[in-house]
Amino acid sequence: MPYAHITGWGMYVPEPVLTNDDIARLVDTSDEWIRNRTGIRERHIARENEFPSTLAVEASLKALEVANLAPTDLDLIICATSSPEYIFPATACIIQDQIGATKAGAFDLSAACSGFIYATNMAAQSIRSGSIKNALVIGSETLSRFVNWKDRNTCILFGDGAGAFVLQASDSPGGVLSAVMHSDGSGADLLTLAGGGSRHPATESTVREGKHYMYMDGKEVFRFATRVMGRATLESLDLAGLTTDDIQWIVPHQANYRIIETAAKYLKMPMDKFIVNVDRYGNTSTASIPIAAVEAVEKGMLKSGDKAVFVGFGAGLTWGAMTVEWTGAIPAKKHVHPKRYRFFARLRSFLLRVVRLLEGFLSRKEL
Ligand code: UT7
Repeated sequence: MPYAHITGWGMYVPEPVLTNDDIARLVDTSDEWIRNRTGIRERHIARENEFPSTLAVEASLKALEVANLAPTDLDLIICATSSPEYIFPATACIIQDQIGATKAGAFDLSAACSGFIYATNMAAQSIRSGSIKNALVIGSETLSRFVNWKDRNTCILFGDGAGAFVLQASDSPGGVLSAVMHSDGSGADLLTLAGGGSRHPATESTVREGKHYMYMDGKEVFRFATRVMGRATLESLDLAGLTTDDIQWIVPHQANYRIIETAAKYLKMPMDKFIVNVDRYGNTSTASIPIAAVEAVEKGMLKSGDKAVFVGFGAGLTWGAMTVEWTGAIPAKKHVHPKRYRFFARLRSFLLRVVRLLEGFLSRKEL
């Protein structure tokens, strides 16, 4: 049975930065309150012309560059997102078109902030089963579009960004060692974006009632998060036949520094084993775990051969954890340049549209 190795990684955040002081000009809050209660100092916010696919394409091309894999060799693209570009089509299909992944199946996965763990597990299981060889998994968000900038309970927390992993099949042991996924829909009302779906299609009244903004019962989500983070970590380690002594790093979902601290206490592990960057990005939902992992690799913390647990929680309620042996980049004989595919992808996309238009015209004439 092939193993599923993480061979590429990339991240991208939009340039504009929103500091706590900036937010204190919008709602009744302060830099001190936000830092003390969440650990967040600033977050990045997408420009008007940036969408989840825009951020995801940048992160994905970086991940493919590290893996030295051409987009045309991808079999599968999964985009985990809580802020999809449309209800349909899937954001993953827009990414597929823009990077020129001509052979890949593509779909979105909705499991809120646990989405990246769910998606990486789905890709890893497809590789383990032998049905595919190369997968791209992305977490990408522009949640700032669904934030009510008058609601101090939520607007202090979220930021935009994207992270991506390339997973590849190999006969050498390692890569994704185990994963657990959980859900509890009885808590569905604790963190929601109610408007725009089939239950509350967008109308004047849904807009008036602010249903197009996210709603969160912060206290309850906090209590839930502190309960499940440590437990899921131990479950995943147990499945992999490991203990906390065997791992070098924990890469947790970056929602609140205090939640991570509580998990560290539960696991009796020092905070310096936890990768934390919530101070600079806030909560980027599905993107937070891959962004933290990419930074850890770039800082020389997460290294080839290290064992790590990724653990997250979110709306649904959902939670999950994954134990990995970090593979690192595989030395390449010849270099492919994934970014060069971008131009051809645009050209291909344009030509496909033209052909579709001509075919439509001709078939109408035949009728
Ligand atoms: O990806 C998953 C997404 N969500 C999360 O992980 C969020 C989990 N929850 C949290 O991180 C925390 O619950 C928050 C950061 C949202 C809130 O922190 P808290 O320590 O739970 O505060 P609280 O809701 O208990 O509020 C304490 C006080 C209240 O005032 P009173 O009633 O004690 O007078 C709030 O009205 O702080 C007030 N408050 C604020 N004050 C200044 C709430 N938000 C703010 C604010 N600035 N932004």
